[in-house]
Amino acid sequence: MEFGVLMIKTIIRSFGFSVPDRVVTNHDLEKMMDTSDEWIQQRCGIKERRWITPGKETTLSLAAEASRDALKKANLKPDDIDAIIFGCLVSDHIFPGTGCLLQEALGFSKTIPALDIRNQCSAFLYSLSIADAWIRSGVYRRVLIVGSEIHSTSLDKTTRGRDVSVLFGDGAGACIVEAGTDKNQGIIEVQIASEGKYADKLRVAKPSSNDDPRIKFEPEFNPHLFPSMDGKYVFKHAVERMTQSLTEICKKNNITANDIDFVIAHQANARINSMVLQQLGIPETKTHNTLQKYGNTTAATIPITMSEAVDLGKINRGNLVALVAFGSGFTWGSALLRF
Ligand code: ACO
Repeated sequence: MEFGVLMIKTIIRSFGFSVPDRVVTNHDLEKMMDTSDEWIQQRCGIKERRWITPGKETTLSLAAEASRDALKKANLKPDDIDAIIFGCLVSDHIFPGTGCLLQEALGFSKTIPALDIRNQCSAFLYSLSIADAWIRSGVYRRVLIVGSEIHSTSLDKTTRGRDVSVLFGDGAGACIVEAGTDKNQGIIEVQIASEGKYADKLRVAKPSSNDDPRIKFEPEFNPHLFPSMDGKYVFKHAVERMTQSLTEICKKNNITANDIDFVIAHQANARINSMVLQQLGIPETKTHNTLQKYGNTTAATIPITMSEAVDLGKINRGNLVALVAFGSGFTWGSALLRF
């Protein structure tokens, strides 16, 4: 959309986040399953994660708190928002989506659209792509993007499920994007992709609409109700796709890896992120990780990590920032923006 000669762009106004108070260290996990602090730190870089206290926090309550943090940092009220895009793996209810509940919880005096998306660890980039298209085409002026996840209530916390359960944490991140014309700020491009042939490499298979009845009483343990992952396969594809996506988006926009001031990558495994940076020749000093204290919060990792990096002064206005993610589906994507 153009006003006179000024091109409307999508500007990042603010980030916010919220994590539960309850800290679960690797040593706490040692009491639940056959694992060790050393194994978890060496293989993934995670020291601790946050888990909710059941009955205290919900996907919605974390989302609302992260949204209020982003609104406060932007000095905005809920009614200043025109639309919500909400991403999560497991919603508070099978339906309706938590985005609608968030619209109610934030206390709008008006109705606005709330779009729920299901794109796992790539949810933030999928949301950003939609918000960017809405804003640039003039459909909405200001969009609240939220990723909120509670994993701790759907993990197999025994030795049987240790390859997955040590990785995930609970938390929410939020971001407000809006129309603007500032030359030194704005989204340059967002690229997203999927390859469904690998869906079974990382998923929760049940309950499934193929079963009739969909949910039935089962006295025996059913592993399909818990996340399953071919870790090595996911790892290899994550490194390949994240590197490829960042390389392509830079090339398309005539940007070299050297030009990038800061990279915020999805927080699944510190080794994945190091390998991606290494392949692009970007030093570790140009990134910020939160997985060591929050684990993998899937849809929330990028807004949580970005929020913290901004609060710490590691990312400043005008910086050229690259975002990149990979997750179940497989889905992946990257973004280039001037903060
Ligand atoms: N504690 C101790 N030992 C363990 C644990 C654990 N928590 N988990 C597995 N092991 C054991 C295995 O049983 C195996 O033992 P064995 O050699 O006797 O058979 C050994 O450790 C090695 O297991 P691997 O699976 O080969 O370990 P690997 O080095 O591949 O690391 C990991 C596993 C950390 C899961 C890694 O594969 C990984 O990070 N994968 C990618 C995760 C990811 O990116 N997910 C995507 C995002 S999530 C989303 O989108 C929803």
